[in-house]
Amino acid sequence: MSRYIAAVDQGTTSSRCLIFDVTTGGLVAGAQQEFTQHFPKPGWVEHDAVEIIDSVTAVMRKALAEASLTVADIAALGITNQRETTVLWDRRTGEPVHRAIVWQDTRTEPLVTRLAADGGQDRFRDRCGLPLATYFSGPKARWILDNVPGLRQRAEAGEICFGTVDSWLIYRLTGEHLTDVTNASRTMLMNLRTLQWDPELCEAVGVPMEMLPEIRPSSQVYGTATGEFAGLTVAGALGDQHAALFGQGCYDVGDAKNTYGTGSFLLLNTGTEPVDSNAGLLTTVAYQLDGQPVNYALEGSIAITGALVQWLRDNLGIISDAAEIEELAGGVDDNGGCYFVPAFSGLYAPHWRSDARGIIAGLTRYVNKGHLARAVLEATAWQTREVAEAMETDSGVRLTGLKVDGGMTANDLLMQIQADVLGIPVIRPKIAETTALGAAYAAGLAVGVWSDVDELRRLWEEDRRWAPSRSRDDDYTQWLKAVEKSKGWLD
Ligand code: G3P
Repeated sequence: MSRYIAAVDQGTTSSRCLIFDVTTGGLVAGAQQEFTQHFPKPGWVEHDAVEIIDSVTAVMRKALAEASLTVADIAALGITNQRETTVLWDRRTGEPVHRAIVWQDTRTEPLVTRLAADGGQDRFRDRCGLPLATYFSGPKARWILDNVPGLRQRAEAGEICFGTVDSWLIYRLTGEHLTDVTNASRTMLMNLRTLQWDPELCEAVGVPMEMLPEIRPSSQVYGTATGEFAGLTVAGALGDQHAALFGQGCYDVGDAKNTYGTGSFLLLNTGTEPVDSNAGLLTTVAYQLDGQPVNYALEGSIAITGALVQWLRDNLGIISDAAEIEELAGGVDDNGGCYFVPAFSGLYAPHWRSDARGIIAGLTRYVNKGHLARAVLEATAWQTREVAEAMETDSGVRLTGLKVDGGMTANDLLMQIQADVLGIPVIRPKIAETTALGAAYAAGLAVGVWSDVDELRRLWEEDRRWAPSRSRDDDYTQWLKAVEKSKGWLD
């Protein structure tokens, strides 16, 4: 049996390939490559799907070379990906017919408003677990079909494939048109209970079923790669947040994690029955192992957290490297009265307001760039508190600690702020790459290198925890006032 499992983590701003040793669960090699973000209009965000697959194959090549391994040494490849981002391609040539529309893109606002006019924002919630919002894939696919002449007819004739990024990568690697059930649960087109495409949802959203991939469990042999990586077994896929939940060992009801990436996503495993949300969360599929029932999750999705640090770097130039924010924010004692609501893509959970836009509130001449940097970090912590509170309301589960992962957890100051703002300990695992690890676990289970989740649970180890040091309840009230001011900006 080969000793290694590879995972591709295709994120919003970069693609990575990590290789894990199956005996120790340890990381052997990794490669990362950023790719171009296209912002053609305010609120629009696009990716070039060819650049995405090219960056994925480049990091796979680099990671194998770094570890001095070949495809024959890899027992299986797992895929994890930015979710909801929508790719349409020609089934025959495999070429995209439009740039990918990224999850953060708000161009479908008029469409979702029109759909909500008949039955309200939650009209499809009982079927798909999601409110009508620009975030999800189905309306993005509809937008492309409506805006590329002749495309709808071709899609109805079965000539066009729809896919989220998992599907796109699997297609380009193996030629199979598949998706995993977690990614499918983010489209607004899948019925959460049957785990199949829902004809009525597809009809209402305006997406022909002929273009949809087959829905598969998250951990299963999907196919074998051809071309440069010929012979590589592709054996699992999960949306990145679901993969992080899986990599964090959250296999029991009540287990939760928060991942800090471009955005932040708090997921709570709710077991084999979906839990409806009344507090503005999403009901989603957590994961499905081959031949087993799905586990569901409640999710608090925050669109902009790490992306705000990037924005401070790229758009304002206040820092030249994302890591510099910790020192800048650490140079002041508090936020100087300043609150930054990064509603760049509207507000996601628990508000779901596409009409919100970013604001900085509480400015006086006293405020300097250190305060602004602190307000940027705090925006992540405040938003996390909002979704954590909604999670407790919906699930009845009182969070007693929060497992965290993702790039921003390297920021110790932010982790302390987060513990203070939540009033509970924040716990970071030894392997911070839990997203890729979750995909590796799914692939490894599918090919039998690990036997069950109990074996995986034992691999989880704590690195560090931050205990709350002071209450931030009064400041949280100020934050909530600022959030209200960001709403209705487009009215
Ligand atoms: O739903 C969007 C999410 O999957 C993006 O994750 O890590 O690229 O911010 P990330």
